Amino acid sequence: MGYTPPLSCISLPLCYLFLFLFLSYVHIEASPLKLTREATTVSSRQRLSVSNDWKFFRSETNPDQISYDKRPNLPSTSNTESLKAWILPSGNQFIKDPAKRYSRPTSSQRTNVTYAQNGFDDSKWETVSLPHDWAIQGPFYRDDSVPVKGGMGRLPIHGVGWYRRKLSVSVEDKSKLMYLDIDGAMSYAMVWVNEILVGGWPYGYNSFRLDLTPYLKEGHDNLLAIRLDNPTDSSRWYPGGGIYRNVWITKVEKVHVGQWGTFITSRNVSKKSATIDFIIQVENEDDIAQEVNVATDVHVFDAKSGRAGEKVAEFPRAVVTIGGNQHLQAKGTTELNNPKLWGPYSTQHPNLYIAITRLSANNETFDTYETQFGIRSITYDGDKGLLVNDEHVEIQGVNQHHDLGALGAAFNIRAAERQLEVLQELGCNAIRMSHNPPSPELLELTDRMGFLVVDEIFDVWERSKTSADFSLIFPEWHEPDLRAFIRRDRNHPSIIVWSVGNEVGEQYTDVSGASIAQTLNDMVYEEDPTRPTTASMNYAKPYMPFPRALDILSLNYQGEGIRDAPAYSHLSGIKTPPLYPDFHRTFPEKLLWASESAASLSTRGTYIFPVTRGISAPVNDTSGGNSKYLHVSSYELYSADFGASPDKVFSAQDHNPFVAGEFVWSGWDYLGEPTPYYSARSSYFGIIDLAGFKKDRFYLYQARWRPDLRMAHILPHWTWPGREGKVTPVHVFSSADEAELFINGKPQGKKKKGNYEYRFRWDDVLYEAGEISVVTYKKGSEWAKASVRTAGPAMGLRVNADRMDINGDGKDLAYLTVEIVDEEGNIVPEADNEVMFSVSGPGEIVATDNGNPTDFTSFISQTRKAFSGKVLVIVRASPGEAGEITVMASAVELKSVKVKIAAH
Ligand code: GAL
Repeated sequence: MGYTPPLSCISLPLCYLFLFLFLSYVHIEASPLKLTREATTVSSRQRLSVSNDWKFFRSETNPDQISYDKRPNLPSTSNTESLKAWILPSGNQFIKDPAKRYSRPTSSQRTNVTYAQNGFDDSKWETVSLPHDWAIQGPFYRDDSVPVKGGMGRLPIHGVGWYRRKLSVSVEDKSKLMYLDIDGAMSYAMVWVNEILVGGWPYGYNSFRLDLTPYLKEGHDNLLAIRLDNPTDSSRWYPGGGIYRNVWITKVEKVHVGQWGTFITSRNVSKKSATIDFIIQVENEDDIAQEVNVATDVHVFDAKSGRAGEKVAEFPRAVVTIGGNQHLQAKGTTELNNPKLWGPYSTQHPNLYIAITRLSANNETFDTYETQFGIRSITYDGDKGLLVNDEHVEIQGVNQHHDLGALGAAFNIRAAERQLEVLQELGCNAIRMSHNPPSPELLELTDRMGFLVVDEIFDVWERSKTSADFSLIFPEWHEPDLRAFIRRDRNHPSIIVWSVGNEVGEQYTDVSGASIAQTLNDMVYEEDPTRPTTASMNYAKPYMPFPRALDILSLNYQGEGIRDAPAYSHLSGIKTPPLYPDFHRTFPEKLLWASESAASLSTRGTYIFPVTRGISAPVNDTSGGNSKYLHVSSYELYSADFGASPDKVFSAQDHNPFVAGEFVWSGWDYLGEPTPYYSARSSYFGIIDLAGFKKDRFYLYQARWRPDLRMAHILPHWTWPGREGKVTPVHVFSSADEAELFINGKPQGKKKKGNYEYRFRWDDVLYEAGEISVVTYKKGSEWAKASVRTAGPAMGLRVNADRMDINGDGKDLAYLTVEIVDEEGNIVPEADNEVMFSVSGPGEIVATDNGNPTDFTSFISQTRKAFSGKVLVIVRASPGEAGEITVMASAVELKSVKVKIAAH
């Protein structure tokens, strides 16, 4: 039995409903329309990037005696003035009940704030470009009595930051509306224009819009000043600090399509046809009524080039009369023959369409609005799992935090795309956005690349996890945040479910917790009746009220069991047997998956002996861990106390075939949360390390997720001077079913994968220098081979660039991996030589990294030690300059290397 969406309808106050139900479609060739994200100008709508020329200043303490609200850990709380009353009205559009909306205080316009004043001299402030993360360059905090500890990444995220910039408004723009669109600012954003406090948005992960029109003066330079306040202890991971996503000015006519003003859904979807429903929100901010023609055409969308292709359908044209200061919704339906369906990588294709809406009067188009969307059907089935376009798709997913490693939280499209590319190579087809709304561009990438997405909004509700987290503002902001989040994201075909929470404390509060879940779900259904909801459970049990409120059952670790295997029995803490069968028995109709699985730990390229003979063990100093060097062994058998190795998780999944799949914790390493060693800076959970280098675990997942790929991977490395004659287990990850290991040509025995076994292991091998090699077989035929050789002394550097050509737009990036190699080109596996980088030509070094969670060198340093033989440098072309960028890497006594990257 599958999920049936609840019957409820989007409703907005002050709206007329125009329903045009005749079906139509036409086929004409349209000339391609260039759609770029930068400064898109179509008819009179303009979306202008406001990324350069910001002046920036940050103070670790509150420099201006104001704050959003009194907070438990804010210094000198008693003297600070709360400006919450000016900020709350910014969420009004997303509060359904008009009686609950906020009025702007009339007592004062809050003009007396020093850093928002025209006369304030900001010339000594730093000049920055957006997206900007004020904390990422460090320095790292090292000890225990520091303001930001391991959990939040040991970087200076805290304090108050001010950004100031001039905005010029031309006289021709007099009649227009000017909106400020901020994709994300961390956190408690407050915005002043010409000294007047306009509004703001506390939650740092949501996107928001403010209407600047009443405060701007045309023909003048206007002062835009933004204050952010980022408390310590606001998060369980690295949040970043600053305006870390893009900022736009959107200019429109008084009558225009509203913010996130379209909603496109499809039904009766098959390869032959699909019915597409369209809702458009038209807004009139003028006092007089207007008659408006609304026309929407559907084109094929080529996401790579950003171009609209052939027109394939149109919605019925509508003429609507919209009263002064009114908002209305127009609705339409059309039918599309032979739709190109959106489906996930790698079994289906992520085809996209774009709806181009034109508002016109007297034959003149005055607003053009574009909506990218996809057509697909999804069935959520308790027994069969997830069906996309009637085909079963096993969820091979990962959890991803929002940071981009060495770039911090500052969003960069190429950095995000690179993360997704490596995940696709892994065989990953799904991402859980843990635990907050992602940047809008990331969802464009998941649409385009064919990832299934769990779009998640909250890590906490009313019950806090850290002292200054979202629970402080949940009462007033959960509704505006939740509705804004869904309105922004609901046209993305990649999103398959809305997650309203992760491991919230309300799992423990019986019916009262479940009733909050229900309240949030009801809001979700009102905003999007087509998708189910979920919330992740690491505690709630099938007999409790909490899971009853959810459409999809998302288990964190409980499916495979928590601390239930023998190796974990000595640990204190909650012990949970594997709960997949119980949940399925209690809710046979609900789709069930692991929204977090494994929590395996490892440090790339580091192996610690002896190796457990079991299939899963918690880390400690006698079991895969080294608390002196803060390393976890890469035999990929060790986990957090509450976690399990991948092998144990796979077995639990295979024993319970109704489980729809898993989201591994985590895909990439991320900043903060360095379990089990909180004096480190970044996590050990990733399948891929923070620099983007693959851990051994990568191949364990790849072997399972890409069974048709001929691959075999051997661990550990084979350079162990001093281990001669000592037991040095060899494990092989392969998509084969049989394997034979050789040491210096001597056979070590053939192994077959047994039922519920996921690796080949030779646990009694005695080390001798030379070469280990493996030959694998599938169904009796040779499948894939691999070998590893003992490396000699380091002789030189080798460089690989992910791309040799990049855009000279100041944003695109080249990622260069430098390896320390011996004379024969073998990587020297434990090499930690210091590598110096330099660049000539029209480019610059943005950051370096090596994936070592204990490396406290600033990410902007141009000198960095290699770690386990590798180091990364990230290079960007200077904006607007073309030419050849030469990147040089050198290290004492090693042969240096150069590579040339072309910037266009
Ligand atoms: C989960 C939590 C994640 C992360 C993970 C690993 O319990 O939901 O956010 O903390 O554990 O520690």
